[in-house]
Amino acid sequence: MPDSTGPALWRASQFDVMDKPGHERGVPAPALEWPVDAAQSLIALPDPHVPLAPVDIHALIAQRRTQRAYAPDPLALADLSFLLWSTQGVQKHTPSERTLRTVPSAGARHAFETLLLVNNVDGLAPALYRYVATQHALTVFSSNESMLDDVRDGFRNMNLVTLSAVVFIWVCVLERMTWRFGERGWRYVMLDAGHVCENLYLAGEACGCGTCAIGAFNDADVNEALGLDGAGQFVIYAASVGRKPC
Ligand SMILES: Cc1cc2nc3c(=O)[nH]c(=O)nc-3n(C[C@H](O)[C@H](O)[C@H](O)COP(=O)(O)O)c2cc1C
Repeated sequence: MPDSTGPALWRASQFDVMDKPGHERGVPAPALEWPVDAAQSLIALPDPHVPLAPVDIHALIAQRRTQRAYAPDPLALADLSFLLWSTQGVQKHTPSERTLRTVPSAGARHAFETLLLVNNVDGLAPALYRYVATQHALTVFSSNESMLDDVRDGFRNMNLVTLSAVVFIWVCVLERMTWRFGERGWRYVMLDAGHVCENLYLAGEACGCGTCAIGAFNDADVNEALGLDGAGQFVIYAASVGRKPC
């Protein structure tokens, strides 16, 4: 068995041993999100602020359970919009070119991009989409079937990614976090990912959906399928969502 590298990361990310991060060395701040290709049109999403039926936060937390089987019904686009807003929705731009969102993030760095593997959502053709958080809109990331199959193949539980309505795939753009926090940023992106997925679980509960967090994927396969280098940009976490079966 190879030596565990966990303790080395833990040690290297402690304040007393870390090198100065980029922001203390005059390195320009990385962009707060991926650029939108001018050739790609934005797909507007419904207003995520349309009130839901009143919810009881105690009940939501009490009834949250991982859901691995889903009803065959499509997910409404309004619900998808609400789930995206709940997980990465931008509420405010700060003067220092950061964003405040519906989830907390160390230093408000928000180092994630959200990709959606859409299987069964009203009004969206099955394809891979990207959520453009600053505009609360989608763009098509890829509709190439063989690419989508390669992405699916990278996940270890095929049912979750084929039988759910949609799979959220969170890509970490590491420099957004390490520019501010250096090696400690590695810890923070993992912590931040947990907040995002927990909001997905709870927002899903509020609109009749079930969620399954997914940590079991073959990193190299999924990253390669998505065209990510696996070092500076990589899939950090995913989750399948669908309507709860009756
Ligand atoms: C970081 C993390 C990774 C997980 N990865 C998977 C996974 O790959 N496949 C899966 O079926 N469930 C996965 N789960 C779901 C857990 O198995 C589930 O949360 C656990 O069994 C407790 O059940 P509960 O969520 O209903 O309380 C993951 C959960 C977390 C928090």
